[in-house]
Amino acid sequence: MIVGISAGRKEKVTEQAVKTVLEETDEPYEFYSLSSFEILTCNACNGCINTNRCVKDDKLNEIVETMIEADGIVFGAPEYWDGMNAKGRAFWERVAFSLRHNENYPLADKPGVIVGVSGDGYSRCVIKDINNFFDDTKINTIDQIEVRGEYACFSCGLGHICSAGGLTNFYEIPVEKSDVITPELCEQYPETENDEKDVLVELKEAGQVLREKI
Ligand SMILES: Cc1cc2nc3c(=O)[nH]c(=O)nc-3n(C[C@H](O)[C@H](O)[C@H](O)COP(=O)(O)O)c2cc1C
Repeated sequence: MIVGISAGRKEKVTEQAVKTVLEETDEPYEFYSLSSFEILTCNACNGCINTNRCVKDDKLNEIVETMIEADGIVFGAPEYWDGMNAKGRAFWERVAFSLRHNENYPLADKPGVIVGVSGDGYSRCVIKDINNFFDDTKINTIDQIEVRGEYACFSCGLGHICSAGGLTNFYEIPVEKSDVITPELCEQYPETENDEKDVLVELKEAGQVLREKI
């Protein structure tokens, strides 16, 4: 069984990308969208030292049990202000702190795939953040994929005239609303002469590699 976790909006780009990897593994999987519940933050209370479980009783502990049972882990998060979003970070602070005491690493050597999503498509900051947590829990990172997401400005209704918004990365603002094309996961990075890979191909390849590793 593989576990897939998205720290992005429900049914939006991170979730779609994580599920693309999961589907390609051909294995049974459990999927969690962290958007479905609140995730409390780490208080560094040391309550997890002997049990390797957080004393805060929210959905996180159920997900941790699934991660420990799983043969592989796919984790995706969006970039908010040049780093992993707070939801994803709150999740990993508690997972990584509770699962690395006394030389006890319950996630050690599990193959893991990282999906980093950002409005502009350069998702290195969020990928670096997730990498740190994978390293600290000794998850074996087998692939990491940068995905161009969808700024909320595409659907806020004002993106085409807003000089502070994400659409300024792609258009001269103001732009005609009808000229704005909302990016879709399947339209990203079409193969070009300089050999840039289709992100869907990359996500599916990651699923295939994960299948081989388990
Ligand atoms: C509060 C906030 C901050 C963001 N900061 C960045 C950023 O620094 N760089 C970037 O490229 N995209 C940024 N984005 C865009 C998101 O990464 C993008 O909307 C992504 O698709 C969100 O993932 P989701 O579609 O799975 O929810 C930001 C979005 C929000 C809501």
